[in-house]
Order: sequence, then structure tokens, then C-alpha cells
Amino acid sequence: MGIKFGLFSDLHYSLPHAEVRGNSKRTFEDVQKGMQRFADAGAEFAVSLGDNTQPAGDAAEQFDQLKTMVRKWNSYGVPVHASFGNHEFSQLSIENVLEIFQTDKTYYSFDIGDCRFLILDSCYNPDDSHFSEENFDWRFGKLAEEEVNWLIEKLADKKRTFIFTHYNLYYDPEEQYSEWYQVTNKERIWDIMESAGCVEAVFQGHHHTYHHFLFRGIHFVNIPSPERSPEYNPHDFPIIELLKNGFLYNDQLIERI
Ligand SMILES: [Fe+2]
Repeated sequence: MGIKFGLFSDLHYSLPHAEVRGNSKRTFEDVQKGMQRFADAGAEFAVSLGDNTQPAGDAAEQFDQLKTMVRKWNSYGVPVHASFGNHEFSQLSIENVLEIFQTDKTYYSFDIGDCRFLILDSCYNPDDSHFSEENFDWRFGKLAEEEVNWLIEKLADKKRTFIFTHYNLYYDPEEQYSEWYQVTNKERIWDIMESAGCVEAVFQGHHHTYHHFLFRGIHFVNIPSPERSPEYNPHDFPIIELLKNGFLYNDQLIERI
């Protein structure tokens, strides 16, 4: 049995009186079912790929909404990591978000066995300031310069690596608005990852639909959003199992290059 982990993205959960996005009124219930699914499968951890909530009545209400959600998903015995999305900062400051997630780091790495997992923060403005309380343009997310240097250092040690990010590191260039879904410094990141030669897959949020791209020898997998599903769908909460020759995305084998 290989390492297993669960993924979810773009819940966009809206409070009963708040603006709805697709089926966003239901997604808090969905994530509870998803977390139970991860716990039942013996997942070692889960990752939220960002955009967990829709705007609330005001910042205080948004703070409570996100805090309640984080507290809930932490109650399943499966540690949940988070790559923040732009919607975390539509009403909250970076300080608020760090308080809710009880952390002082927005990007970090951890190892399990022979594998390395990198949680990225793609919510930086062009001037490297962090997204905070509407102080950003959702079309322009990036990895900060300091973070890029950290990434280079991490990848100097050639461990089998899996990356998690809200803004995409790669997306179909043919798609309209593709540029806005990817980090603005993507070409540099592609070069770094390709030359490191140890990044197997990048799991990304932000786009709300499942996609799988193979680009420069790396798998890029977009995780769907439950707000697009008419009812709870376990496939919106995929389970990844790492194997020697690749990984299972639910039951689909994605082979190691
Ligand atoms: Fe989103």
C-alpha cells in the first residue's frame, strides 16, 4: 500500500443568506463527506487547494465562516494542509487567514518516506506583496521571489516531489483566459521544475473542472469543484495513492515519466 492523500478545491461555500455560486450552499456538507471519505480510505493527509468560501456579510462573518470550516475539517483525524486561494483574501487580511489556519507559514514542505510534498502560496501581487483584504487583482497571482528561491533550494535535493497550488503552474494555452489562471512567473517555474527533474505532479485548483496535462515531463492535474456538481460527488474529493510506477487518481493510473 502506497501513501494516500485526499484533495479538494474551490468549495466557495456560501452562507445561507450570501451570494450563491453554482451549488455553493451545499459544499460545506460536501467537504464533511469528503473528509470522512479520506478518513475511511486511510489517507495520511488532505490538501485544500484554496477558495474555500464565498464572501459573507462582512469581514467578521467571513472570519467566523472560514474558522468554523477549518475547525470542522480538522475533526476527522486527517491533517489538512492548505494552499490559499484568492477568495481567502476577498474580505480577510493575510494576518486573519494565518490566525484561522493557526500557522505562520503560507508555503512549506513536508516529507513522508521517500516523497516530498510542497504546499505553495500563489497569492502574491506583481510587486511581491501578499494578497490581503481585496488588495489584489485575481488575474495576476504569482510565486514571490523569495518563494521561488526556496523552491530552487528544495528541488536541489532530488526527492520524488508532489506540488500543491491554487493558481495553476500550467494550463492549456489554447483556452481563453488561460493566462489569468496561471501564475504570472510560470515560464521561470517550468524551467526550475524541469531542470530539477524530480517533480512528478502538480495538483492545482482555481479552474473548478478536472483536467490532466503532461507538459515538460510533469503531470499537471486540476481538481474539480463541488460547486459544479448537482449533488455530492465523491469524485470532487479525489484520493491519490502513490505507487512505484506512478500514482492512482481515484482508480486511474497516471504513470511516472
Ligand atoms: Fe475558485
